[in-house]
Amino acid sequence: PVIHRADYRPPEWLIPQIALNFALSLDATKVQSTLKVRRNPAGDATTQLRLNGDALEAKAITVDGHPHNDWHMDGSDLVIDLPGDAHDIGIETLIDPTANTQLSGLYASNGLLCTQCEAEGFRRITFFPDRPDVLSVYSVRMSGDKAAFPVLLSNGNPTDSGDGPDDTHWAEWHDPWPKPSYLFALVAGDLVANRDSFTTMNGRKVSLAIYVRAGDEERTDHAMRSLIASMKWDEDVYGREYDLDIFNIVAVSDFNAGAMENKGLNVFNTRYILADPETATDGDYDAVEGVVAHEYFHNWSGNRVTCRDWFQLSLKEGFTVLRDQQFSADRGSPPVKRIEDVRVLRAAQFPEDSGPLAHPIRPDSYQEISNFYTATVYNKGAEVIRMMTVLTGMERFLKGTSLYFDRHDGEAATCEDFVKAIEDGAGIDLAQFRRWYEQAGTPKVTVEMAHTGSTVTLTLTQTMAPTPGQPVKQPMVIPLRTALFDRATGQHHGEELLVLDQPSQTFTFEGFADAPVLSINRGFSAPVEITAPITADDLVFLAAHDDDPFARYEAMQQLIVRHLVAAISGTMSDAERAAGRAAIGDAMGAILDDTALDDLMRGELLILPGEAYLAEQLTRADPTRIFAEREGLKRWLGETLKDKWLALHDRCSAVPYSLDAAARGARKLKTQALVHLAPADPAEAAARAKAQYDSATNMTDRQSALMVLCSLSVAEREAALADFHDRFAGNMLVIDKWFSLQAGSLNPNATEHVKALAQHPDFTMANPNRVRALWMAYAVNAQAFHREGGEGYRLIADLILRLDPINANVAARFVSSLGRWKKVDETRAALMRAELERIAAAPTLSRDVREQVTKSLEG
Ligand code: ARG
Ligand code: ZN
Repeated sequence: PVIHRADYRPPEWLIPQIALNFALSLDATKVQSTLKVRRNPAGDATTQLRLNGDALEAKAITVDGHPHNDWHMDGSDLVIDLPGDAHDIGIETLIDPTANTQLSGLYASNGLLCTQCEAEGFRRITFFPDRPDVLSVYSVRMSGDKAAFPVLLSNGNPTDSGDGPDDTHWAEWHDPWPKPSYLFALVAGDLVANRDSFTTMNGRKVSLAIYVRAGDEERTDHAMRSLIASMKWDEDVYGREYDLDIFNIVAVSDFNAGAMENKGLNVFNTRYILADPETATDGDYDAVEGVVAHEYFHNWSGNRVTCRDWFQLSLKEGFTVLRDQQFSADRGSPPVKRIEDVRVLRAAQFPEDSGPLAHPIRPDSYQEISNFYTATVYNKGAEVIRMMTVLTGMERFLKGTSLYFDRHDGEAATCEDFVKAIEDGAGIDLAQFRRWYEQAGTPKVTVEMAHTGSTVTLTLTQTMAPTPGQPVKQPMVIPLRTALFDRATGQHHGEELLVLDQPSQTFTFEGFADAPVLSINRGFSAPVEITAPITADDLVFLAAHDDDPFARYEAMQQLIVRHLVAAISGTMSDAERAAGRAAIGDAMGAILDDTALDDLMRGELLILPGEAYLAEQLTRADPTRIFAEREGLKRWLGETLKDKWLALHDRCSAVPYSLDAAARGARKLKTQALVHLAPADPAEAAARAKAQYDSATNMTDRQSALMVLCSLSVAEREAALADFHDRFAGNMLVIDKWFSLQAGSLNPNATEHVKALAQHPDFTMANPNRVRALWMAYAVNAQAFHREGGEGYRLIADLILRLDPINANVAARFVSSLGRWKKVDETRAALMRAELERIAAAPTLSRDVREQVTKSLEG
């Protein structure tokens, strides 16, 4: 069934209070739920109370303390006939956490019991109106074996605990803040805590704890520092204070997503908590900091103000992603953070916007909401709110967010409520801007520049391709930070904000004796694609001189993208290829030599545009040609700039390990040096990678060295992989890296390696991290996945079919890789479609996979 945003109705019943009593056991947990139900005056009149369930059996239903027989099942929902307006309902359910391989609801993970309720997991625990606009005060009691479950946690504050009969104990928790069911959490198991505390701006002392399995606690300090920094930052920047006496985090190794913002009890995937220099890369450190902040920030953007329905998901996710991006920028280098965020957007979201699963950040319909936890809702959602900050400035924007939090505290709100609060608080008209919530697709802006006398005229035209269900698009509001550079002085005449809100618009600038160099969409002020009359020479100029670091990066990217797109399309003569390469080589050489650049930023300027982003620039392309041209350029740069790469690797290898920016920059550059040297001089690269691997004191150096060895067919490859596996045996997160490196490798035998790894004793379909480590790395490895004959497609389709009954949520995430058939050559497109058809023909499919496959075939 398709659920439509337009069909929203307020709940018929409210549940002001719920009491839950859990008799815990790994395979038979008894749940007694007591609901205070009250008729909602704003709801439709009915004598029936509908409670959602999923794979639950109802037993022992009572109304106002008496056994009640007037109920029936409607599909998986429990429908109870109720005579009056206010009742107490009692329901008992029995669940098997060990059999719960979907990891939604209450499940077992290595002897631990934990929950994941967003979006619709609570209905797998007990019958309830499992929708985000029903807010209740939760009281939780749990009891269980003391040895198996020494730690008993839930939301809010602990209120009482004690010993029970037969070596059991119990605990009670109370959460004073009304919350929707998706924010409920319970954890029980043998855990140890890293403890600290934080005193809020109004002097509330908050006890902080990060719970992990014994032995992992030494790797939680970075997460704890990140949490404390987040709490302070949200006070300083957004004026948001924490609101309970206790804040707990639990890390579990079996988890579908990254982490979950349950009130006062965040549950995390271990990969976003555990970090130490030996086992975590610099990227892992950043991810931990960002996700800890993200979940903490949800306490206001998500929990205190929650969502009316799941169509509003970007209300909390887009805004919270923006907040975690701003936090991480403040903690490190703002331009480098901006470049990384844009790279993610282009690699993950732009393809979504141009493919069969395209949807607005606020979707109009869905079949399975789990399929809408997407880069569009999250990352484009953040870009849309970021554009509001560009239009208003941060100060006025924060007036808007303060109004939003004041106005809607304790409510289940809508995206419209957010936009209205920004309009009112910041004093801006966002009427047309709202189209960013309504229309899917990435706008394309074409720029024309004319220079007559001393006047420069820019003509900006916007278009947006049709997306499924939206054949015709209306013009968007596109804020473009723009500067015009004087070639002679290398300076610009001041940055201006051009707001394009018509199909086509003209802007004029005075005082230019010569035609200037255009720098547009600086800082990536709008998530659009730009086509502008900037020559290769101008791009080289901007890559060297633009005072906006993002614009420098962008100029470098455009220089390379244009060259590669022409090369891939086969429209390039040998002379043009030589000239294009020379321009790129000169620009890179200048970046390698530029002493004013910090190394983190230098690393960004040296990174070649990704294959997914290159594919976006082409209507239809053979993915192996994209790969071959990109590798060809890399090899040429490796050869041409060889001495510089070698000197860079030497210089950076002398920098001792620390987490400061200079040392991290050095490690990033070592990777870039090896990556460019590998195709140019495999023997030299292998020798250097082996030496770097053997002497590594940290995972960043070790992993990048292993990645390079892995891509080469050299003797050192096997030895290093074996050493890595032995050295980190038992550390699940590092063994995940071992799988990923091989599955994502440029090695020509990657497909054979992956098939063997799927049979490795360490591989399991039960752990989402392990499945992603092997198969997601493979699905995004273009040269392997798209290998001739369609074997890659068949492997991924087989995976989807086998994983679907075990974990539908994770299985559905793999469908989009097969759904990109319109973007590849006809031969491959037919093979990809055939695999989608094969999945569609399976006798049973989850709603998750069914929705994605059907939409992917419709195109
Ligand atoms: N709200 C969580 C976060 O963004 C993610 C929950 C994921 N749930 C899902 N069904 N995929 O922090
Ligand atoms: Zn989130």
